[in-house]
Amino acid sequence: MPQRAPLLTPGAVSPRRPVPASTPRPEYVDRPRPAPHRGSHVPPAEVVERMRTACRIAAQAAAEAGRHVQPGTTTDAVDAVVHEFLLDHGAYPSTLGYRGFPKSCCTSVNEVVCHGIPDDRPLAEGDLCSVDVTAYVVLDGLGVHGDTCATFGAGELDEASALLLERARAATDRGIAAVRPGREVNVIGRVVEAAARRHGYGSVREYTGHGISTSFHSGLVIPHHDAAPAHAEVIETGMTFTVEPMITEGSPAVDLWDDGWTVVTRDRGRTAQFEHTVLVTDTGAEVLTLP
Ligand code: MF3
Ligand code: CO
Ligand code: CO
Repeated sequence: MPQRAPLLTPGAVSPRRPVPASTPRPEYVDRPRPAPHRGSHVPPAEVVERMRTACRIAAQAAAEAGRHVQPGTTTDAVDAVVHEFLLDHGAYPSTLGYRGFPKSCCTSVNEVVCHGIPDDRPLAEGDLCSVDVTAYVVLDGLGVHGDTCATFGAGELDEASALLLERARAATDRGIAAVRPGREVNVIGRVVEAAARRHGYGSVREYTGHGISTSFHSGLVIPHHDAAPAHAEVIETGMTFTVEPMITEGSPAVDLWDDGWTVVTRDRGRTAQFEHTVLVTDTGAEVLTLP
């Protein structure tokens, strides 16, 4: 059973990877913030159709990244894999230049909850590493995003880390299975948090799922804890949003590093995350982020 690596420290971030001028980019790139989302949380059919493509590419890129989560590989090298994969498939890495984020995916290792910046730290045997990939594609002039995240183990995991990973996946799947038109959005987090608590885990509150379509974050918020009576918006057929709980071994309280991005558990316990973009159907949710 591998020993756990020491706590993370900030590493060196490589220069920004170029994107050919021929790859269309979202409007927010290199602006301070995205333009506010206009329109409803139920995108029209032509948007959903394009999201299927964006979501599939994002899922394939994340799976490819996962094959590179190995002891000795740096998270920067994982980022390079995601970057090249997206460009090769005609997609722009939505995180690159989003509110100043410098890389083409988020890599969040061990006690990093989310928004980890890929850097020069080589992964150690037994590390958990989540890779969060968002792809932006423009098809016939219409640009859309697809957002997904999965946690992978580098080499052999200690048993507690392996359990955390699988139970985080299960909690995400439970949350998605609770989606049904007519229910309140807060049903999702209630189910996720209950699934986490059953194992003594926490579910982070400060970072949530979100509506997604032509905007990366459309303004609809999907909590991963029991937020009732808040977040009582009614789920409607045709909505598109993410479910992306961050499940913690210990307390779900978080701290932010001085880089303004890296979110860590306050108790420095380990954490794991899975994310899917879903489309609400008449009977439940269809997961769009499948390879
Ligand atoms: N993909 C993340 C999400 O699930 C957002 C990353 S924003 C970044 O919403 F700027 F940190 F990259
Ligand atoms: Co997301
Ligand atoms: Co994401």
